[in-house]
Amino acid sequence: MIETINLGQEYGGQYVLRDVDLKIQRGEDFALIGPTGAGKTTFLRLLDLLELPASGRVYFDGVDVTTSRQERQEARRRMAFVQQKPVVFTMSVYDNVACGLRWRRERDEIIRQRVEGVLKLVGLAKYRDRNAKTLSGGETQRVAIARALATQPEVLLLDEPTANLDPVSVSKIEEVLEHIIGEHKITVVMATHDMSQGQRLADRIGVLVSGKILQLGSPSEIFTSPESREVAEFVGVENILAGVVTERDNSLVTIEINGGRIEAISDYKVGERVYVLIRPEEITLTLSRDISSARNAFPGRIVRAALVGALIRIEVDCGFPLLGLVTKRSAEELNLTPGRSVHASFKASAVRTIKRWH
Ligand SMILES: Nc1ncnc2c1ncn2[C@@H]1O[C@H](COP(=O)(O)OP(=O)(O)O)[C@@H](O)[C@H]1O
Ligand SMILES: [Mg+2]
Repeated sequence: MIETINLGQEYGGQYVLRDVDLKIQRGEDFALIGPTGAGKTTFLRLLDLLELPASGRVYFDGVDVTTSRQERQEARRRMAFVQQKPVVFTMSVYDNVACGLRWRRERDEIIRQRVEGVLKLVGLAKYRDRNAKTLSGGETQRVAIARALATQPEVLLLDEPTANLDPVSVSKIEEVLEHIIGEHKITVVMATHDMSQGQRLADRIGVLVSGKILQLGSPSEIFTSPESREVAEFVGVENILAGVVTERDNSLVTIEINGGRIEAISDYKVGERVYVLIRPEEITLTLSRDISSARNAFPGRIVRAALVGALIRIEVDCGFPLLGLVTKRSAEELNLTPGRSVHASFKASAVRTIKRWH
């Protein structure tokens, strides 16, 4: 439905988006994830044809809509863009949602039906007559989503739909989006810096870092098999160790890292330089060396323990640093505090390897 070829943008001679080649199918729910400043908003603005690209083309249903004024206008009518900081006007929620349709000069009866329908959909039916300026951040965002949906777009563009909202508002909005995606089959392209949101909502994810798409894939592919160090860091692989493959026995390899030897399942050959990636939740911490099936077990000492949400993030010095995540309860039971000696273990199958160029 949407295709970009070589799409790029620059501001003041500085490239902020480069060579983006992307195909988004009708009905697909695509999330662009990446850190702040990666170029996500710029990409959405280019898709929404709000600005002209410095390079490349945008196709909409096979038609090149990049530069022709008329094609751009027609394509824009089929899309709706919910910007990161939604604007509401000092008027009722109803009128705020209706304004997109009034601009399009729809009949009053149609406006009433659509506005009431979408207000119900986003859970704001009872706020119909409230002044939109008195709503909370999450409710304001839902007004903006309702306004976009009222125009019955084929493509919904969402820029950080839940940024800066409290957890309850976030889950309400995600519920609304899940419903729209599931029932209404609208093509959705959203930008988020929240990896887990991308995972929860999208069929496919593109990871954008410094203006480039580094990896495209299903949420689980991106999460479990990042192809580069930047993507690994972004998706929360906290153990990234540089090493060299030194032995191989079928698919089981030994990787020498600075301060230890790690066994992994990998296709890389002896002599190849790799990064070893281990998610912190794959690491088991015990007080004595367990009789377990884990091929990797290292004695070490706890250097740091910090609370993150409901879990404790524990840094262990095993001659090389390893980060593990344990529940508060097991941290208490095992008294996992700085200075304590522990064994850190993980399976060879929990280790991912990616090629390292330097
Ligand atoms: N209109 C603009 N003029 C100059 N620089 C801009 C403009 N819009 C965005 N940028 C810059 O482009 C980069 C990408 O921005 P943006 O697309 O907003 O990233 P993201 O949405 O991923 O945070 C940033 O470095 C930002 O400062
Ligand atoms: Mg942005």
